[in-house]
Amino acid sequence: MIAAMALSLSSCCSAPKEESMSDLTNRVFAMAAEQCKLMDKQLDDSVSPRTFTPQGIFVPTTLSWWCSGFYPGTMWYIYKQTGDEQIKALSDKHTRKLADVAACASGHDIGFQYWCSYGNGLLETDNKDYLPTLEEASAMLARRFNPTVGCIRSWGRVDDTNDFQVIIDNMMNLELLMEASRLFKCDSLANIANTHAKTTMANHYRNDNTCYHVLHYDQTNGQCVRKRTAQGYADESSWARGQAWGLYGYAMMYRETQDAAYLEMAEKIAKALMPRLPEDGMPYWDYDCPAIPYTYRDVSAGAIMASALVELSGETKDAAFAAECKAMAEKQIRSMASDKYMCTIAGKNGCFLLMHSVGNLHGTEKNTIQEVDAPLTYADYYFLEAILRFNALYK
Ligand code: GLY
Repeated sequence: MIAAMALSLSSCCSAPKEESMSDLTNRVFAMAAEQCKLMDKQLDDSVSPRTFTPQGIFVPTTLSWWCSGFYPGTMWYIYKQTGDEQIKALSDKHTRKLADVAACASGHDIGFQYWCSYGNGLLETDNKDYLPTLEEASAMLARRFNPTVGCIRSWGRVDDTNDFQVIIDNMMNLELLMEASRLFKCDSLANIANTHAKTTMANHYRNDNTCYHVLHYDQTNGQCVRKRTAQGYADESSWARGQAWGLYGYAMMYRETQDAAYLEMAEKIAKALMPRLPEDGMPYWDYDCPAIPYTYRDVSAGAIMASALVELSGETKDAAFAAECKAMAEKQIRSMASDKYMCTIAGKNGCFLLMHSVGNLHGTEKNTIQEVDAPLTYADYYFLEAILRFNALYK
């Protein structure tokens, strides 16, 4: 009798069983597929998704905006997981909307735009129709490289002689160059990517392995003349998404090259960031914002970081550190998949999946489009990527 009571007491008081990653994956991808299909209905051929304002207004953007590859890329990931043919057709349709490379090539973001869309399309379908656009996009990006500086110009016209600005985000565009270098047997594309990654390692990073957002170079001699932020709290602070771009960029460059310097850099960045994350693993928008904890999370930074940490956990030779990266990535994925951060009602949240990202807080102060505490298309993309990578390594 007493034993039976003890048993029933222990079963009624035990913690709820944790959802398996397999159930989490099915739940998240089912919701993502529903949202993406509904999203398609609010777009025409000239726009792609940008955000959804706190006032409930869906904000699309032109195809030249740096984020135009993420919506088709998100659907390529859904297709990879589910095999849903309707999603495949939608991915293809929204990928091909970006066929006019010149119209989209206003900056370095061409790597985001074309690798996430055409690149993933090629990987998932082996459709050779996607190759010419990828080749054109990589050539367009390579034209922004300046050998004196050793970097690809981020902002401004390619022929601007006055100011040469490089942002940490640009590390992400190197994946297009590395992949295109192999696809089109063009070593110079990989050389450009490696030179950019090495120059960034030398100049963008501080002694504590956090990075600046924007560097200005003198293109007559390649000297860095100014280090600052554009989207972070302050020049010397650590803007969360910038830190995530750098982490992802160096883990990706190690995958692409097996150069140990990139692995070491990614490890150092992860070791600098992980202890500074809040309990649920979702970073505040800037690690040094004095208003923490009374300020915004940036779920997009958490999603990019989760994906990078999974990759790094499979790369590092240090077993204890690999386990740390895996555990943090899993925590971040579980947080994002909770109703604190993920939309659970189809058609709500502007048909985006995740809530609570920060695009550009300062932009908002200047009354530009609200992207604060809002959904962002790239948060959804890197969230699904993180789950796929996690399952590929740890299923
Ligand atoms: N420029 C890309 C970003 O806002 O992270």
